[in-house]
Amino acid sequence: MDGIQIVGGKPLHGTVRISGAKNAALPIMCATLLSDGESMLRNVPALRDIGTTADLLRTLGREVEDAPPEVRVGGGEVTPEAPYELVKRMRASVLVLGPLVARYGKAKVSLPGGCQIGTRPVDQHLKGLEILGAKIRIEKGYIISESGRLQGGEVVFDMPTVTGTENLMMAAALAQGRTTLVNCAREPEVVEVARVLNKMGARVSGAGTGVIQIVGADELAPFDHAIISDRIEAGTYMVAAAAAGGNVLIEAVPVDTLEAVIAKLRAAGVTMEPDGNGLRVVREGRLQSVDVTTSPHPGFPTDMQAQFLMLMCLAEGTSRISETIFENRFMHVPELGRMGADIEVQGHTAFVRQVDALEGTTVMATDLRASASLVIAGLVARGETIVRRVYHLDRGYEHIEEKLGALGADVARVSGLDA
Ligand code: EPZ
Repeated sequence: MDGIQIVGGKPLHGTVRISGAKNAALPIMCATLLSDGESMLRNVPALRDIGTTADLLRTLGREVEDAPPEVRVGGGEVTPEAPYELVKRMRASVLVLGPLVARYGKAKVSLPGGCQIGTRPVDQHLKGLEILGAKIRIEKGYIISESGRLQGGEVVFDMPTVTGTENLMMAAALAQGRTTLVNCAREPEVVEVARVLNKMGARVSGAGTGVIQIVGADELAPFDHAIISDRIEAGTYMVAAAAAGGNVLIEAVPVDTLEAVIAKLRAAGVTMEPDGNGLRVVREGRLQSVDVTTSPHPGFPTDMQAQFLMLMCLAEGTSRISETIFENRFMHVPELGRMGADIEVQGHTAFVRQVDALEGTTVMATDLRASASLVIAGLVARGETIVRRVYHLDRGYEHIEEKLGALGADVARVSGLDA
């Protein structure tokens, strides 16, 4: 099992380039199921989840050339069945459900099951597909769906769900007539999926707002699309520069999608200014405590909570970090505590008090963004930190040790650690 070994105490200097967005690439790879022919995705990050999605598309019968930054999805006779062995590796596999139901009238997709950060239900996905005419039942842990051609309708989500919105947009793109989705997720990745569906010949409007209208097509064309850059990777490097101190130019930052994160970092005392096509992040003085409550986009993203909480361990005063999206997303807290952080969790809120320093030690990654916060903690801790189970990190951060190393961090990947 691999780990990341970090010797802390070095400020970061230099330039880092942000890769393509994982949470846009995943649904867009699944959108290739809506048409025959060869689709091309560009600026795709080299991540485990991309490889898992490529394996899933191959299992379904499509020919896939997975060579980041390019992924080519060719033709192939599709058997619309997504097995548990693949779906359990990555919950986002549920994104094949909408395309398979819409295109093939039937699908057998394993229920994703929960993960470390929560139960992660998909009831909204299923409710929406039933409104469009799918007959759905659950059998032995599998979602079984059968339908004729889907018919447009109105779906009101109980809460904004990112993959739920994406699944229903993709299904509606081949439905007969008009579909209206209400109380949609407004994340930039949702907007990106809508952009691709329009390239394919659907008529999608309103993406990025709470109401999305889709006029379905009888047939959709393959596409060639370059993926937007990853706002969460960008935010993670912004926090790393803020925590370690220094002066870092982050290139290909989607600044207009990070307003909530930038506002909170500025309030904490971090200087961030546009510089060419990037953002220059400078932190020299003391950090100030700032309160954060996660919320759906354009609010402060839950995927940045663990990283920002770690930053607050060093900030003057006490900060209050509230997690409103997932029920179990403070698993980085006990690990940070082992490094000397002073954090008290009460329900969905963590109270983070300043400590003078963190001490390097061995810590355990538990989920993708928690592991990023532990790596950042290693950058600022005294001595050596080893973050174990770094496969979590490899799901969402492309070449993280190379990118941090290029900024002057003392970081290396170590192999052969216990599980
Ligand atoms: C997406 O997950 C992202 N994943 C997550 O990123 C991200 O944390 C999350 O959105 C929130 O922004 C991908 O895009 C692949 P949701 P998703 O449906 O779509 C509840 C990462 O780190 N809900 O928006 O699964 C749900 O329990 C990952 O890259 C239902 O109750 O999240 C949660 O409380 C982690 N029923 C809330 O809605 C449903 O049918 C938001 O979840 C669907 C969701």
